[in-house]
Amino acid sequence: MKLCIIGSGYVGLVTGACFAEVGHQVICVDNDQRKVDMLIAGEIPIYEPLLEGMVHKNVGAKRLSFTNSVEKGVDESEVIFIAVPTPPQPDGSVDLSYIEQAAREIAVVLKDYRVIVDKSTVPVKTGEKVAATIRRYNRAGAAFDVVSNPEFLREGCAVGDLMNPDRIVIGSSNEQATALMKKIYEPFMAPILVTDISSAELIKHAANSFLALKISYINMVSRICEASGADIENVADGIGADKRIGRNFLNAGIGYGGSCFPKDIAAFIAISEHLGEPFELLKEVQRINRTQCDRFIAKIREALWVLKDKKIAIWGLTFKPDTDDVRSSVAIDIVNQLVAEGAIVRAYDPKGMEKSQQMGLVPGVGFASSPLDAVQDAEALVIATEWKEFSNIGFQELKALMHTPLIFDGRNLLDPLVARQFGFTYYSIGRA
Ligand code: UGA
Repeated sequence: MKLCIIGSGYVGLVTGACFAEVGHQVICVDNDQRKVDMLIAGEIPIYEPLLEGMVHKNVGAKRLSFTNSVEKGVDESEVIFIAVPTPPQPDGSVDLSYIEQAAREIAVVLKDYRVIVDKSTVPVKTGEKVAATIRRYNRAGAAFDVVSNPEFLREGCAVGDLMNPDRIVIGSSNEQATALMKKIYEPFMAPILVTDISSAELIKHAANSFLALKISYINMVSRICEASGADIENVADGIGADKRIGRNFLNAGIGYGGSCFPKDIAAFIAISEHLGEPFELLKEVQRINRTQCDRFIAKIREALWVLKDKKIAIWGLTFKPDTDDVRSSVAIDIVNQLVAEGAIVRAYDPKGMEKSQQMGLVPGVGFASSPLDAVQDAEALVIATEWKEFSNIGFQELKALMHTPLIFDGRNLLDPLVARQFGFTYYSIGRA
């Protein structure tokens, strides 16, 4: 099928590449000419495992192309996906101006029947507004349908998630549009759930909020483990073995971050309030998440007493492993707090240093060339992101380089018993 994706960010680019991979003809549109030029030149603006190879392969096969022209995308495609950012506003509600702009731009060039699909994460009822906007700005009076098709991919494993989804949600009120959507997703061989548009929109916010709730739940349990001498890993295994609960998203740590959960939970709270049904439970989820990081810093402060002039190594800046995304990363918050208290911080991250620097997120921080370089002469090591390569580093080597064998593991990456066997003082989350 001929498809157009408006917006070449994480969701748009990965979706475009995966659609091309299964044989569709895909045009990716972006209004950032620099990004379009990069993509045409074969450069991928984000780090995402497997993405680069997939983009190159499908560009080579002439199934995937890039342009800044919405008109070209709309003219040459049967279905248009909107995958533009929906950033948060100071009050927690969502800034929908990019969605509105995309709807207007489509409307202006729309000549014949098209299905317009919203893939961005949006508040319930946005589909209705998109349809009204297209109707208002489309002088040609062309027929169209609006569909909601939320995306559930995770950064760091986006290609795998998109190629093997648990489910596809199609929110549609028109049979012709539903049939086209089913045809697009046929090659993915995943269960398809067809709903009304509002339900599809709500599924996305409700799913992300539930996952965040699971994280805050286990983080709260980890505090009770610390207070009682229990071990959070055992407790999470024991809870997670119940199929009704599941072990996924029960990893205690310094809290969730990234460009989705913090924004989406705030948005869901704002919508619930707007609809007169304030979702108080989610406010507690936010509070636990915020204080989880504060508690971790308090542990560091307590052990080091005064942070001023202490040499601290940081492993990890990204909000999770296998990505270069540092937006709303708890690791960055920790670094900045340590710097604010006068610590001398040297950080290492396999993929996140360039973007942290470019975005000016960690002023006053030194960058190391390797994890071992970061710990040279350090009085403490803080693990803030659970990159696999960190767990492969030998304690012996680490101890030889550090000034003091002291580790604060914010992601429960290392084995406490082994760390202590090697003479480290070791703090983690929810385990003695
Ligand atoms: C999340 C959802 O998992 C995706 O389904 C959704 O499509 C995406 O948001 C989105 O809305 O676009 P993502 O933010 O990329 O995906 O990454 P996650 O793997 O969900 O991790 C989010 C945060 O939760 C990270 O900071 C991670 O470290 C933290 N986390 C995750 C935990 O602290 N504990 C866990 O057990 C799992």
